[in-house]
Amino acid sequence: YPIFAQQGYENPREATGRIVCANCHLASKPVDIEVPQTVLPDTVFEAVVRIPYDKQVKQVLANGKKGGLNVGVVLILPEGFELALSDRISPEMKEKIGSLSFQSYGPNKKNILVIGPVPGQKYSEIAFPILSPDPTTKKDVHFLKYPIYVGGNRGKGQIYPDGSKSNNTVYNATGAGVVSKIIRKEKGGYEITITDPWDGRQVVDIIPPGPELLVSEGESIKFDQPLTSNPNVGGFGQGDAEIVLQDPLRVQGLLFFLASIILAQIFLVLKKKQFEKVQLAKMNF
Ligand code: HEM
Repeated sequence: YPIFAQQGYENPREATGRIVCANCHLASKPVDIEVPQTVLPDTVFEAVVRIPYDKQVKQVLANGKKGGLNVGVVLILPEGFELALSDRISPEMKEKIGSLSFQSYGPNKKNILVIGPVPGQKYSEIAFPILSPDPTTKKDVHFLKYPIYVGGNRGKGQIYPDGSKSNNTVYNATGAGVVSKIIRKEKGGYEITITDPWDGRQVVDIIPPGPELLVSEGESIKFDQPLTSNPNVGGFGQGDAEIVLQDPLRVQGLLFFLASIILAQIFLVLKKKQFEKVQLAKMNF
């Protein structure tokens, strides 16, 4: 969940560029982001994040039963950019957003937005309403090209913040030897006893409801060999985009420059016509 990232990490993007969700959401799946190429200051625009997946697939829930996947997103905007307040958002955009509620990553991290978990069936495409900053009022923001980073996830993670495994991952043998006993628990899940044939030492591996068992009693197994299948159908992905914060004066300046060139060209042509008339007049003398 994004809240696990908020609690565990000051900054969701590590120095290597990796977004921290990947530490617990181990499978890699694509995400996609779409933003305008350029925005003017103090303007509301849309950043559309897509988390594609096959809506038919189901994942294991906590009780071992199957259910739909949820999605979540972390969006890392440049300093100064933030969530647009509802009085600035157009009615069409409001309709798209519906009842989604975006959160900032932390009290002084207004440029980092998170959302989720929300049902993936409905929200595999999420439009963030964003307000661009105005460099004339915010002195630490400049008219530049900025990167935007996004992380998007569908499906349950593999590791809890305390380091324990979820039931949406593969379980490996913590000892080598022979599978001497498999107990199927009432609420689902297994207790697998592995006995070392040389010294009789036993380890017990507890498997929660969810993953499917791959070993049977009497089988001899190696250390770290998978005892179960990997039930994970979800995954996390990250991507980036670029956005230019454009100075309206620059655009006006460019238009003025282009207009002046057009005028200059027209005047040159007119001058040429005038000169041709003079030449013609001279010839008639
Ligand atoms: C579940 C997103 C970070 C561990 C989920 C779900 C979403 C999500 C959408 C629900 C999946 C479902 O129900 O189908 C994210 C995002 C993250 C993030 C966007 C980064 C901003 C983390 C981190 C950890 C983690 C850092 C580990 C410390 C888990 C676990 C679950 C889960 C264990 C399953 C919980 C359960 O159902 O018991 N996450 N997550 N996530 N996440 Fe994350």
